Amino acid sequence: MVSFVAQASLIGLSCLPALVSAAPFSFPLSNGFPNITAPSNQLTIIQNKAHGSLPNGGPPANISANTLTSLQLIAFNELSEVAFFTELISNVTNNVQGYRIQDGATRRFILETLKNVQAQEELHALNANNAVNHFSQNPIQACQYNFPVSNFEDAIALASTFTDVVLGTLQDVVTLFGQDGDSGLIRGVASVIGQEGEQDGYYRSIQGKLPSALPFLTASTREFAFSALNQLFVVPNSCPNSNIIKLPVFGALSVLTTPDVIVDSQKVSFMVDATTTNWPSGSSTPLSLVYINQQNTPVVQQIENIQVQGTTVTFDAAFPFSKGTFGNGLTIAAVTKTSGPFASVDAVAQDTLFGPGLIEIN
Ligand SMILES: *[C@@H]1O[C@H](CO)[C@@H](O)[C@H](O)[C@H]1NC(C)=O
Ligand SMILES: *[C@@H]1O[C@H](CO)[C@@H](O)[C@H](O)[C@H]1NC(C)=O
Ligand SMILES: *[C@@H]1O[C@H](CO)[C@@H](O)[C@H](O)[C@H]1NC(C)=O
Repeated sequence: MVSFVAQASLIGLSCLPALVSAAPFSFPLSNGFPNITAPSNQLTIIQNKAHGSLPNGGPPANISANTLTSLQLIAFNELSEVAFFTELISNVTNNVQGYRIQDGATRRFILETLKNVQAQEELHALNANNAVNHFSQNPIQACQYNFPVSNFEDAIALASTFTDVVLGTLQDVVTLFGQDGDSGLIRGVASVIGQEGEQDGYYRSIQGKLPSALPFLTASTREFAFSALNQLFVVPNSCPNSNIIKLPVFGALSVLTTPDVIVDSQKVSFMVDATTTNWPSGSSTPLSLVYINQQNTPVVQQIENIQVQGTTVTFDAAFPFSKGTFGNGLTIAAVTKTSGPFASVDAVAQDTLFGPGLIEIN
């Protein structure tokens, strides 16, 4: 199976004009989303398609500032997911080249599934933004988006990868809810973690992969998710108010090696875009490359074979793949200022300059 990430990262930097030629996706949808009021006909239709409702109990009385940031990030992410699935449904429906599904029954089931998911993502976004609104903050507004795929297989692989990042990030979000005294929000977000996991099992099986990737899914953080969305999908400067989300956007880190080559060579080549974030000290760098996989302690590797060309830096790092212990499923790579050691994914994010590089194996 060809995995999206390594390819898309390549495409993202080397073939940019080809991607920019398609018009970016922009809201609103034909039903007015994201501007949906409750109650309304539009909401009823979305809930029918989603086979279920927005929670009707309302958010807790007050929340911490850090929790507000998490809700804003969830809204920001879900808006991007709605954009993605809307565009994917449109591509399949219109038999866009690369999106033709020959078998009628398969095509019908895929479209029904994607429409169900799209409505569910609309409700996830509305739920998060309703909570943001409830705490007297402006809802997060949608940006414009370009998705670095042009065929169905790559689109599903991309859906699986960004869902893996979400599944890791929501672990971070519920941990912070607990730490910040906002345990009232944990149950609802935990229900979404399971929901996204159901989706991901389907995206994996379409690719011929086993539905469940790992015993313990890979950890991520809010900073990695916010960075990835901005680096990979968002049209630069198209977001009306994402600047109110108090999270950093790291420098972009692209994975240049395909998954099967990574497994064989036990090595990954990376590329860094040092336009907005500096690459310190040329080829004798103090930086390190860190991998986060499953719920294990982050693995720190040396950065080797550094080549600096203007604002583009390429380098290699070992990837000690081992079926039972390291490297299956999602691995998040990050370039850190120091060699750690790092006790957790949060410690890595705190020290990160470039990331996340997204690697999907098996
Ligand atoms: C959202 O919808 C409401 C009610 O239909 C309308 O009054 C409002 O202007 C809309 N807002 C935007 C930003 O479109
Ligand atoms: C919410 O309000 C209650 C009562 O005023 C207060 O005890 C609690 O600390 C507040 N929680 C947060 C997360 O601010
Ligand atoms: C839909 O197809 C267009 C044209 O190939 C492509 O640019 C876009 O990225 C596709 N979107 C998705 C979500 O697959």
